[in-house]
Amino acid sequence: MGMEVPISIRIGARRAYIVGMSTIDDLNKRLGIPDVLSFDEGEGDLPFARIRSDRGAADVSLYGANVTHFKPVGVEHPVLWMSPEAVFAEGKAIRGGIPVCWPWFGNHPSGSPEKPAHGVARIRLWDVREARVDDSGRVRLKLAMPGTESDLALTLEIAVGAALELRLTTENTGDAPVAMTAALHTYFSVSEIGNVRIKGFDGVEYWDQLEDNAEKRQDGDIVIDREVDRIYVSTEGECRILDAGWERIIRVAREGSGSAVVWNPWIEKSARLGDFPDDGYPGMLCIEAANAGPDVVTLQPGMRHVLGTTISVMP
Ligand code: BG6
Repeated sequence: MGMEVPISIRIGARRAYIVGMSTIDDLNKRLGIPDVLSFDEGEGDLPFARIRSDRGAADVSLYGANVTHFKPVGVEHPVLWMSPEAVFAEGKAIRGGIPVCWPWFGNHPSGSPEKPAHGVARIRLWDVREARVDDSGRVRLKLAMPGTESDLALTLEIAVGAALELRLTTENTGDAPVAMTAALHTYFSVSEIGNVRIKGFDGVEYWDQLEDNAEKRQDGDIVIDREVDRIYVSTEGECRILDAGWERIIRVAREGSGSAVVWNPWIEKSARLGDFPDDGYPGMLCIEAANAGPDVVTLQPGMRHVLGTTISVMP
């Protein structure tokens, strides 16, 4: 199914978003929360939500519904990694933060080169539906991708407190079942990849994407000392990134996610990869709450699926 593609136009110095006809001023008037939530034109003149609360700070690009920055109060280093070469422009995926891969992970199942890698959600402009502070003091934003894609409607709820919580809800609005895959493609910032161990996957099977999806089993913690591109399958538990350099542990919990992707491009792929510095790989690591590989979700008409993740930091 086709869908209207959101585009933006300039009205005077301000940009209006065709989809909701919202301007930055409208967004601030309707949804801004003094000293807590505001909207502005950020990198690439794209619209951003800025959340600054007494618990944590986050930036959200409405283009791609990408959480580009998150840092709980009292934590020294940002939790998310953003490429210094990231390009913020319509038609390009943002290299860093949390891109939303949807409704397919990786290449389109048909193999069509015309279909963008990791789906369409990360290269669309999203609408803001709701913004509020909840009873626990978390700042909540609800974003919606305008229109539908293959009869699937998509929203992303973001809650910012001491933890960052994301819930990506897909609803089948059509009258036939639809199969989909997805990922919350989180780029974590680390002190130096050699200082890092990932706990939570011992004994879990994975598809090695570097060896034509050869099936292997994890033995012990994950240590990254080479290119790694794996889909851990049949795994639902929390994992932890132990970073001895910054003396912190990042906890990654998942919801509705039967698989997790672990990725670091290492030396040669960093050199090939767009918008990624050659020396960027030691400072980052992706762990993605996913429905990927064999973990395909088939949504019946009228049904919903939630893919979620909760990210928190322990000293
Ligand atoms: C990961 C994939 O999820 O995303 C990798 O497992 C891929 O194979 C990486 O290289 C980045 O993808 P992209 O499309 O953002 O360059």
